[in-house]
Formats: sequence, structure tokens, C-alpha cells
Amino acid sequence: MARKVRIGALASGGGTNLQAIIDACQNGSLDAEIALVFTNNPEAGALKRARKAGIACSVLDHREFQSREDFDRAVVQTLQDAGVELVILAGFMRLISEVFLDAFPGRIMNIHPALLPAFPGLHVQRKALEYGARFAGCTVHFVDKGVDTGPIIIQAVVPVLDDDTEESLSARILVQEHRVYPRAIQLFAEGRLQIEGRRVRISPPLTPAEASLANPPLDA
Ligand code: GRF
Repeated sequence: MARKVRIGALASGGGTNLQAIIDACQNGSLDAEIALVFTNNPEAGALKRARKAGIACSVLDHREFQSREDFDRAVVQTLQDAGVELVILAGFMRLISEVFLDAFPGRIMNIHPALLPAFPGLHVQRKALEYGARFAGCTVHFVDKGVDTGPIIIQAVVPVLDDDTEESLSARILVQEHRVYPRAIQLFAEGRLQIEGRRVRISPPLTPAEASLANPPLDA
């Protein structure tokens, strides 16, 4: 079994991705330990989930800091004090500065509810629908200086259906988010991820079960 990686999870919202990671740690499918949950939102559902699981929590209101950098310095200090090795952004609604990136080089992951590089930013499920995309999905990536631009670790694809609403599509994507985020973290825990420029190499390599997908299906 791999050594348990110490995770710091940052969340601002409901925390269903955090819950998936908590569950994976508890059921032994993820060789990680959540050392700290940090939020900028005292009302975050993520905070309740963390407390219920007996995880240490920290809350800092970004509005009480002069600059993004000052806030990030305080967050970094909190994470370092907790011995965090890998930072997980799970619905953390703040952009992170170079102060943060420099403190955890190649050790910050984010999950995004679209198939990057398509649809970075906000309201991306709605944008995929409006665009008429036939597939949507989610991406776990390492964080770099840009918004949703860092090297991609894992993606999962879901079909966009004709009667989808933003809500139904988001729900279908979220189910996959809860599967891929723990998987990405486990690959990190096993020391299998190497960042080479824009690409993330996984060693030994893994081959997908399905060679291709079409939506609508080719043979229906
Ligand atoms: C998810 O859709 C995630 O992809 C995005 O923010 C949402 C967070 O949801 N970054 P939750 O708080 O994990 O339920």
C-alpha cells in the first residue's frame, strides 16, 4: 500500500466532491488523509461535511485581507502548518495567486465541470448546452497561472441529451466528478504522475476500456 498523502482540501460550496474524497479515504480506495479542510465561506456545506467526518477545519474570510496575495500567504501558512503535501481545490471559488502556486509547485489540483480546454470559467454546463455540444464532462488538472488551463490528469465524458437542462447535465457530470477526483489523487499518491510541459504522463501507462464513443450512437 502506498504511503498516505496528506491532503489540504479547499472548498467554498456544498462540498460533494469533498465528500467523495472523504468517503474514498474512509473506504480504503484512496491512500490519502485529509489533514485540513479550508474554506473562505463560513456557511459552506463542505465545512459541515468535514466536521462530521472529524477533519480539522480552518476558515478565513478573504474580505478581511488587503490583497489576494496576503490572503494566499495566510492560507499557505495554514496548509503548511498542517503538513499538507497536496492541495485539492474542490469548488473553491477564489483565484489563486503565484504566492500560492510557488508554495506548492505541481502539487495543486482542481476539478472543473467541462472537458477542458473547452469551456473554462463559470456556468460551463450551460455554455456546453447553448453551444450544442454532444458531449460534456469533467476534468481534473494541475493548477497553473491561468484559469482552468493547467496540465490535464483525467477526464470523464458524458453525453448531452436533447432534453437536458443545465441542472440535469450538471447532475450527470457531478456523478463522474465524484469518480475521477479520488482516482486522480490516488495516481498522485502512488507517485505515477509526471508533468511534462502541458502533458501529464502516467506510469505505467493506462489504456481506456472503450476505444471510442459516438453521440448519437452510430448503430441505433
Ligand atoms: C463542481 O461542479 C466542481 O467541478 C466545480 O465546483 C463544483 C463544486 O461542487 N469546480 P461541490 O461543492 O463539490 O458539490
